[in-house]
Amino acid sequence: MKPPVLCCRHVTKRYGKFTALKDLSLEVYEGEIFALLGPNGAGKSTLIHCITGLAKQTQGSIEVLGFDTVNDFRTTRRLVGLVPQEIGYDPFFTPLESLMIQMGLMGVEPNRSRAESLLETFALSDKRDAYTRTLSGGMKRRLLVAKALVHDPRLLFLDEPTSGVDVELRRELWQEVEDLRAAGTTIVLTTHYIEEAEKLADRIGILHKGELLLVESRESLLERHAGRSLEEIYLELIRKADGRHAA
Ligand SMILES: Nc1ncnc2c1ncn2[C@@H]1O[C@H](COP(=O)(O)OP(=O)(O)OP(=O)(O)O)[C@@H](O)[C@H]1O
Ligand SMILES: [Mg+2]
Repeated sequence: MKPPVLCCRHVTKRYGKFTALKDLSLEVYEGEIFALLGPNGAGKSTLIHCITGLAKQTQGSIEVLGFDTVNDFRTTRRLVGLVPQEIGYDPFFTPLESLMIQMGLMGVEPNRSRAESLLETFALSDKRDAYTRTLSGGMKRRLLVAKALVHDPRLLFLDEPTSGVDVELRRELWQEVEDLRAAGTTIVLTTHYIEEAEKLADRIGILHKGELLLVESRESLLERHAGRSLEEIYLELIRKADGRHAA
């Protein structure tokens, strides 16, 4: 197996008295697509925020390509890209300007032809010069993906990238994810569309109330539960865990 790109060791995250992540350890390997699944509030975004520097774990350590996300945060932030779950955008900038600005923010030389090629990839060329606020929800989300890629991150986090994206574009986004992986990017995605994980992921992690219930390759998971869909397997695990927690 290739070396880990991401290594989380005993990560705990507390918000006041509430524990959002409990002693979580996880490795993600170079070139894989890792799907992080779990119900609302499981801690998926919290984990992604701790890795990408938007939050800081209370305990434990996180390394990206061997660099510590707290002590070497400047380095790790350049190595990771994040497509956030919440759509944030610059209402008065155009998609082209947004990408150019993002390049500056990420410390890479603003490059117009690179920005234009990203817009093309995400089917936004004809909105290049429109105010971002006039874009549809799905278009804004695609712009977020393009923004996350301006600095060619080695490890890309997609936090529910396809919510609100139409069926056709969702498939195109899947293709884009596969192309990125083929080009050497490691990808961690969260999704509530279990079929998305079933289609894309090499490995699957299921998070529940801040704890990983399972980390396994999709292949072996489906093989172990022959004849059942990932969604059925997922639901059974979550229900069992809910029973255990309720007890
Ligand atoms: N800044 C914060 N302050 C207090 N509690 C928070 C904060 N951020 C997240 N939480 C809590 O941590 C828990 C995990 O939230 P998180 O956003 O990580 O869940 P999630 O798995 O991403 O859920 P979803 O599928 O709905 O996006 C939730 O109970 C949430 O309310
Ligand atoms: Mg979330």
